[in-house]
Amino acid sequence: MNIREATVEDCRDLAHIQVDSYRRAYAGIFPQAYLDAFTYEEQEQDWRDLLTSEMQDILLVAEIQPGKLVGYALGRPGIAEVAPFDSEMVALHVRREFQGQGVGQELVKAIAQALKRQGCTSLIVWVLERNPARGFYKRLGGQLLDVRKDVQEGVFEVAYGWPTLESLFEKGVE
Ligand SMILES: CC(C)(COP(=O)(O)OP(=O)(O)OC[C@H]1O[C@@H](n2cnc3c(N)ncnc32)[C@H](O)[C@@H]1OP(=O)(O)O)[C@@H](O)C(=O)NCCC(=O)NCCS
Repeated sequence: MNIREATVEDCRDLAHIQVDSYRRAYAGIFPQAYLDAFTYEEQEQDWRDLLTSEMQDILLVAEIQPGKLVGYALGRPGIAEVAPFDSEMVALHVRREFQGQGVGQELVKAIAQALKRQGCTSLIVWVLERNPARGFYKRLGGQLLDVRKDVQEGVFEVAYGWPTLESLFEKGVE
């Protein structure tokens, strides 16, 4: 598996991974009508807009062979909503059939390394309170922070934080 920066040629695959993942992972958490409103076409355009802008964000993709993407991660350097964290993992999605094979962890590690190169020292991620992915962040050593935010009526997010990025570079963090 190769992890590299995303390019505009990846927009279609990014949209497919994103929309499929939203529909599966967030079913029963967000209202169905909200999830049904996401389309491949609109999300592809959103990715194109992001990748052709002067973005500060770090967008990495995992590919198992050239052009065959199985996941992506979006990191954002800069002051996060919760002090003193100075970067955020904004999105992380792995195709369902490739989950549980270390792809998510490799993407997080690569994002942490890229953020470090930009001078960041710590990381936060917001995750839906009812998303089983919380277990993944806990497994990677994330500390559950004492914050909670309202995303939609009845839908909340909690946050996990890593006070130092170094703790994410090695596998086997408890
Ligand atoms: C969360 C997600 C990115 C994890 O990616 P993944 O490639 O399946 O995870 P990995 O295989 O790298 O797992 C790394 C470790 O975390 C563990 N892990 C993975 N998902 C877990 C979960 N839901 N609960 C507990 N542990 C988990 C793995 O068992 C593995 O542990 P090990 O090192 O002891 O073997 C993936 O499940 C996903 O895309 N989910 C749907 C979208 C989503 O909810 N994204 C997060 C939005 S905030």
